[in-house]
Amino acid sequence: MRRLAPMLLAALAIMAAACEKKTQPAPSGEGGTQSPGQSSNTGATPPPAADTILLGQVGALSGGQATFGISQRNGIELAIKEANAAGGVNGKKLAIRVYDNQSKPEEAAQAVTRLITQDKVVLILGDVASSNSLAMADKAQAAGVPMITPSSTNVTVTQKGDYIFRVCFIDPFQGYVMAKFARDDLKLKQVAVLTDNKSAYSIDLANVFKQKFTEMGGKLVAEQSYSQGDTDYRAQLTAIKKAQPDGIYVPGYYSEVGVIARQAREVGLKVPLMGGDGWDSATLFELGGSAVEGNYFSNHYSPDNPDPRTQKFIADYKAEYKSVPDALAALGYDAARVAIEALKRSKDLTGPSVRDAIAQTKDFPGVAGTITLDDKRNAVKSAVILKVADGKTQYVTTINP
Ligand code: PHE
Repeated sequence: MRRLAPMLLAALAIMAAACEKKTQPAPSGEGGTQSPGQSSNTGATPPPAADTILLGQVGALSGGQATFGISQRNGIELAIKEANAAGGVNGKKLAIRVYDNQSKPEEAAQAVTRLITQDKVVLILGDVASSNSLAMADKAQAAGVPMITPSSTNVTVTQKGDYIFRVCFIDPFQGYVMAKFARDDLKLKQVAVLTDNKSAYSIDLANVFKQKFTEMGGKLVAEQSYSQGDTDYRAQLTAIKKAQPDGIYVPGYYSEVGVIARQAREVGLKVPLMGGDGWDSATLFELGGSAVEGNYFSNHYSPDNPDPRTQKFIADYKAEYKSVPDALAALGYDAARVAIEALKRSKDLTGPSVRDAIAQTKDFPGVAGTITLDDKRNAVKSAVILKVADGKTQYVTTINP
């Protein structure tokens, strides 16, 4: 119940954004936001003009991960706008077609198929949640169309094949980061873990954390799970309480974590909660209120980073969208810029050429860290630990690979 009001608001905001896009088709053949389920003859957007390079994007613009997809879209849009203002790619303008996957892997896969077979995009950007990206990667790899996920951290995503890239770190590192912080800084001795068993991200991240935390001399005293979309976590939290942990790792997404935090406090659990990048949403602070204050999560970027490159991006983003960019927006921006630079260097716009150009990305000045892609098509970057304070994030520390 509690989560209905903010979710409704978010849904309304998305609908408004989608309408705006549909009623204002850009003359250059720029795509609007559509659901992949729309039939081609009613929902089709005109093909791009000959002097336009069409990119595709799939993200959650509705459902439990909606703030992820909206931030990702904003970041990508800003990068494309800047690139076009600076002359585009070798004399051609860039356009992007965006599809909403409704926070569902099946929709994400369908959207990719549509981008490839109907829209004939040269590359695909997205998604945030690893389970969606995994479904997309199968299709993109099979068709030989390059895909860059800005922010999916599950290790298996880029293992889908040589057309699949990411500009963020991976969960074997992210899990280590929080285990280290829990042991060295929070001095925790015995923890509990609460996993979302519908999310590849949550399951694997929980496993890495457990392994690292115990290797570092800590103890795991309770393990519980839930399914994405659940609203009552009291049974799991009560079982966790009985085990008397001194911290709880909750590597889920904001829609569930906000409610979990409140219910944890309700059942009398006062110990710190810890999470991963999936906590990164302003909606977490609305849903969780005072219950999320003082807790910690690992992330890709902090808006407090004084680096002039990062601060310039934050200022430009604020001017455009009237909000402080979260990590999804920063990584969306970085992924789009990596793609655009690769298109400039690519010898032509065929899949293999674009793939090879992306693979050569080295020392790229991203706003969420410098990007060099390794031979597994992953970026190796440091992570930050953030604390929730006064309804926002507060930078705590940086942990290097
Ligand atoms: N890393 C998460 C996943 O793979 C997605 C995410 C990234 C969420 C960054 C928030 C911020 O599912």
